[in-house]
Amino acid sequence: MEKIEIIKPDDWHVHFRDGDLLKAVVPETTRHFARAIVMPNLTPPILNEGDAIKYRKQIEEAIPRKDHFFPLMTLYLTESTNKIDLKNAYENGHVFAAKLYPAGATTNSDSGVKDLNKIMSVLETMSEIGMPLLIHGESTEKNVDIFDREKEFIDKTLDYICKRLPELRITLEHITTKEATLYVNEGKQNLVATITPHHLALNRNDIFVGGIKPHFYCLPILKREIHKNALIKVATSDENSKFFLGTDTAPHLIGDKETACGCAGIFNSSYALPILAQIFDDNRSIKNLEKFVSINGAVHYQIPQNKSKITLNKQLKPITFRKSLKVNRSEVIIFKPNFPVFWKNQVQN
Ligand code: NCD
Ligand code: ZN
Repeated sequence: MEKIEIIKPDDWHVHFRDGDLLKAVVPETTRHFARAIVMPNLTPPILNEGDAIKYRKQIEEAIPRKDHFFPLMTLYLTESTNKIDLKNAYENGHVFAAKLYPAGATTNSDSGVKDLNKIMSVLETMSEIGMPLLIHGESTEKNVDIFDREKEFIDKTLDYICKRLPELRITLEHITTKEATLYVNEGKQNLVATITPHHLALNRNDIFVGGIKPHFYCLPILKREIHKNALIKVATSDENSKFFLGTDTAPHLIGDKETACGCAGIFNSSYALPILAQIFDDNRSIKNLEKFVSINGAVHYQIPQNKSKITLNKQLKPITFRKSLKVNRSEVIIFKPNFPVFWKNQVQN
């Protein structure tokens, strides 16, 4: 049996939601990851230090006793964000980063930013104090095709931000295109990107061929095979230091996915590591998995690497996926790719 031991991973992009859904999904992350950056797109969003402290407490109460886990909180930027409050929240250590959602780009982004110029002075403050900016990088122009929205955002908005604020530490989140890999690779040193397991595992055919698959629908939407291959290339590369894991695990109840107007989001935390190990193994790069899941992110965010380790074993037979996670009388479907996965995290349930 093949086996690897790696530094315990971090997840640099999770949605924990709140209430009973939060209680159900938090352990699926804390079992595998030491830290995670927690997205603020609740209804209503996490807008200030007080909201972040309260939300953090809710998360901490849901962490099983056996798990050692540290949530890193974020604030949701709006056109009314106060830069002094943001600075205080960051300097007090209650908030780790701020998230920019273009208004209307994704789930619960209605309070996001319509006019970038309205938050330029907030971004300047973030640049001065070294606070990381996390970006959902998709254009929201109605006439831009959904498959071109990331590229359009990079050309029209990200490039502008990078040029105006060269010192700002930016994470372009859940990238999905070859263009994004090129822009980040060639871009300024403090520009990095996260990649999800599902964008490494699937292409856009997987949503549509043989019937529509609402559980493969997420934003940014899955792209063509050439884009998937470009993501695999940068994620698994020896030299990779600018790309790292953000699962974007985004739970929605089954009834909100399997409906006439279904929500975007894939719930993948339960098997994210086995799936990634399989993809890295298939690309003869299992030795680079640790950089992608446990090292590069900590280096970018200038925080220490985790001390504990995890073990992944390669089984002779594919692992069996649990189908769903129960939440009250409903359930959340767990992401399962359409290829066999032979790797197993030793702590897997
Ligand atoms: C996320 C969600 O459901 O909150 N959905 C998604 O498809 N990824 C929001 C986001 O990260 O875009
Ligand atoms: Zn997300």
